[in-house]
Amino acid sequence: PLAADIILSMIALDYQDTIMAAAGDQANAAYEQAIEKYKGQYILALEGNVPLNAQGMYCIDGGKPFYEKLKQGVEHAKAVVAWGTCASWGCVQAASPNPTGATPLHKLFPNKPQIKVPGCPAIPEVMSSILTYIITYDRLPTLDSQGRPEMFYGKRVHDQCVRRAHFDAGQFVESWDDAAASLGYCLYKMGCKGPTTYNACPVTRWNNGVSYPIQSGHGCIGCSEDGFWDKGSFYDRLTDIHAFGIEANADEIGGTAAGVVGAAVAAHAAISVAKRARDKAVENKAASTNR
Ligand code: SF4
Ligand code: F3S
Repeated sequence: PLAADIILSMIALDYQDTIMAAAGDQANAAYEQAIEKYKGQYILALEGNVPLNAQGMYCIDGGKPFYEKLKQGVEHAKAVVAWGTCASWGCVQAASPNPTGATPLHKLFPNKPQIKVPGCPAIPEVMSSILTYIITYDRLPTLDSQGRPEMFYGKRVHDQCVRRAHFDAGQFVESWDDAAASLGYCLYKMGCKGPTTYNACPVTRWNNGVSYPIQSGHGCIGCSEDGFWDKGSFYDRLTDIHAFGIEANADEIGGTAAGVVGAAVAAHAAISVAKRARDKAVENKAASTNR
C-alpha cells in the first residue's frame, strides 16, 4: 500500500509532529493522550537518533531533552520501529568523533521489542509493508540476527543487482568515463559495497520503481549497514582476506565478517577475470589452429 493509504485509512496516526495539524503544547498533549489511551498497544516509530551529550541539549523538544520525551513513549509501546539508518545504527550524526553523542534506538532501549529498518533513507515501500504486516498479522515480522525484517534484508544488494551478470562475466568499470561505464558493467572496482550490503533496493527500487543507485551509475555505498559512514572512502574496493562462500546470508556471515565477503568477491572477481583470459587464450589457439 501507498504511504498515503496507510496514514489515511489503515492506522490511527495519533502523533507525528511534522504532518499533524496540532503544534506546540497541543501536539505534546496529543502525544501524552495517545500514550495514555493505547498503553501497551501502540507502535512507536522513530526517525533519527538521540543526541545524549551535554545532557541532551543538542535536541530539545517541548523544553526538555528529546530523550525524555522518547523514553516516555517507548516505555508503554508494544514495540518500537527504527526508521532509517540514523535510528537503526546512528549514521552520519554518529560519525567519529560523534560530538553530540548521537545514539541509535536499540542502544537506548535494548529490552524493548524492536525492528530496524535501515537505509539512508529507508525505502518507502518497505516501511509501508512492515506496518501492513504488523496490522494484518498482529505480530512483528521475522527478523534476522541484527533485528531487520528478513523479508527485505535477507539478501545482499549484490545478489539481486541489475549488473550482476557483468560481475559474473568479469566485466568491470575501470574509470567513471570509460566505455564499460557506458555499457553498464559492474561497479565492483569502483568501490561498490553491494557485496556486503543487505537491502531490497534492487527489487523495490526508488521513485515508484524507476531506479536505484547502481542502476543509475554509482556503486552502492552500503547505506543500510552499520558503520558505513566511518569505513573509509566509498570508492575503495572491497579487499580480500580469505575465501568464503559468497552466497551465505547475513546470519551466517555475521556483522563483523563483511570484509570476509569482500574477500570472496575479490576471489570471485579474480576467477572471473582469469576465466575470461583463459577463454580468450583458447579462442586464440583455436583461431591459429584453423589458420
Ligand atoms: Fe552490482 Fe556492485 Fe555486485 Fe557489481 S559489485 S554486481 S555493481 S552489487
Ligand atoms: Fe543504499 Fe546501496 Fe541500496 S547505497 S539505496 S543499499 S544500492
